Amino acid sequence: MRRRTADQGCQVPGERRYTSRRFATERPVKLSVFAGTSLDGFIARRKGEYDFLPAGGGEPHGYDEFMASVDTILIGRNTYEVVLKLPGWPYAGKRVVVLSHRPLDLSRAPGPAEQMSGEPSPIASQLAATGAKHVYVDGGITVQQFLRAGLIHHITITRVPVLIGDGIPLFGSLPHDVKLRHLGTRQYKSGLVTSEYEVVP
Ligand SMILES: NC(=O)c1ccc[n+]([C@@H]2O[C@H](COP(=O)([O-])OP(=O)(O)OC[C@H]3O[C@@H](n4cnc5c(N)ncnc54)[C@H](OP(=O)(O)O)[C@@H]3O)[C@@H](O)[C@H]2O)c1
Repeated sequence: MRRRTADQGCQVPGERRYTSRRFATERPVKLSVFAGTSLDGFIARRKGEYDFLPAGGGEPHGYDEFMASVDTILIGRNTYEVVLKLPGWPYAGKRVVVLSHRPLDLSRAPGPAEQMSGEPSPIASQLAATGAKHVYVDGGITVQQFLRAGLIHHITITRVPVLIGDGIPLFGSLPHDVKLRHLGTRQYKSGLVTSEYEVVP
């Protein structure tokens, strides 16, 4: 899948346009989650280690295609700190927005990055107003916050066949149920199982 042109927005045949009453602008923007978890739902161990996930992402399971479809990465500070320790900058060519309530030294990032802070809804509005079409939301606390605010449209989870018992969860408490439409599940020889869901508005 190639990056879509601006006037195609995020829409593909059969898919709705992601305008939302919650956004101050009428610009379409889609917010997606793409995460790898243990079977019991953890994205990392308590201290941040992710040794239980296959090295290098493991067997190809759609990450490259997903990344090609996003223009903006929205990550929490904890994820940013982990990414800084990687040998390369995995977000080359993307707009990167790091969330933190405290001043960040963004000059440590090997690529351009900006900081935002505040409630999810104004952040989503600001991203939409400044041209974001498809945003990759990443980091446990960050994903949970945007889900609670009803701002996530699409979720792809790849489950790794391991139980780790404790760790940083992808999902957390919610003020109400979030209904999902199952779009499909792919299974891979290595044991990875990737499921895609659309959040029912
Ligand atoms: N398996 C996977 O697919 C996957 C994906 C991503 C990350 N991870 C792992 O998950 C761990 C990080 O996740 P996490 O749940 O600890 O945290 P996170 O979401 O990456 O970061 C949380 C931090 O982001 C800041 N933040 C979040 N929302 C904000 C907002 N609206 N306004 C201002 N600041 C905001 C706060 O930082 P301040 O305290 O500075 O205010 C908060 O403490 C890492 O170990 C990473 O490796 C795994």
